[in-house]
Amino acid sequence: MLEVRNVSKSFGGLQAVSNASLVVERGCIVSLIGPNGAGKTTLFALISGFLKPDAGNIGFDGTPISGLRPHQICRLGLVRTFQVVQPFVNLSVRENIAVGAHTRIAGRREALEKAADVAALTGMEKMLDQPAGALTIAGRKRLELARALATEPKLLLLDEVMAGLNATEVRELIGVVRDIRNAGVTILLIEHVMQAVMKLSDYTYVLNQGEMIARGTPEEVTCAPEVVEAYLGHGAAARIAIAGEADGV
Ligand SMILES: Nc1ncnc2c1ncn2[C@@H]1O[C@H](COP(=O)(O)OP(=O)(O)OP(=O)(O)O)[C@@H](O)[C@H]1O
Ligand SMILES: [Mg+2]
Repeated sequence: MLEVRNVSKSFGGLQAVSNASLVVERGCIVSLIGPNGAGKTTLFALISGFLKPDAGNIGFDGTPISGLRPHQICRLGLVRTFQVVQPFVNLSVRENIAVGAHTRIAGRREALEKAADVAALTGMEKMLDQPAGALTIAGRKRLELARALATEPKLLLLDEVMAGLNATEVRELIGVVRDIRNAGVTILLIEHVMQAVMKLSDYTYVLNQGEMIARGTPEEVTCAPEVVEAYLGHGAAARIAIAGEADGV
């Protein structure tokens, strides 16, 4: 469904994404993990048309999309959420979600009805008439998810929707993400909350300093020495193995 081939992007002298490739199959939940500054959000911006790749190709449903504008990519059924959520604080939750719905629906009444339907999917039905500015972090994350869903995506890119949530909120949102996938939406997610990565992902990619350093099931990649080193520093995998032997593990 999504094919990213050898994509690169630099900002001045900084190579943020370097020759990165990934594939997302229809119906799957795929995760993209990696240390801070690895280039994950930049890769999302490249896929969703907010940035143009310096090199490489991106295909969605068989159509080349590199070079298209975000609204054109959204019309094709590919939408992202933002890591830093910025709802219209003076508008209600319903009106904020309707902003997403308006990408496909011109009429105001229909867009507001669509907003209410989507709110039910994300557990926001009781908050519809609250101003978005009154929401907690968890509420704002759900609103961002709902706004994206209202565009009727086939592929949804989620950038750290679990960040800043407590354990109960994470558990609930894991359920919401799974429900969205079960409703037929394919998902690619960036996530630091490993519980969510482990519970949700069919497949995981690991980006480090702009390069894709590992791929596989979440269990496979979290055990890979190069991934342990990327997170904990050079030599960490060997040190952990030695410590494990000393403990008789
Ligand atoms: N618009 C920009 N201009 C200049 N540098 C940028 C820009 N956007 C990102 N960068 C740099 O590119 C690198 C990758 O950033 P990116 O936000 O993609 O990382 P990330 O993997 O999403 O990190 P995090 O987990 O902290 O969100 C960082 O060094 C960042 O400072
Ligand atoms: Mg990021």
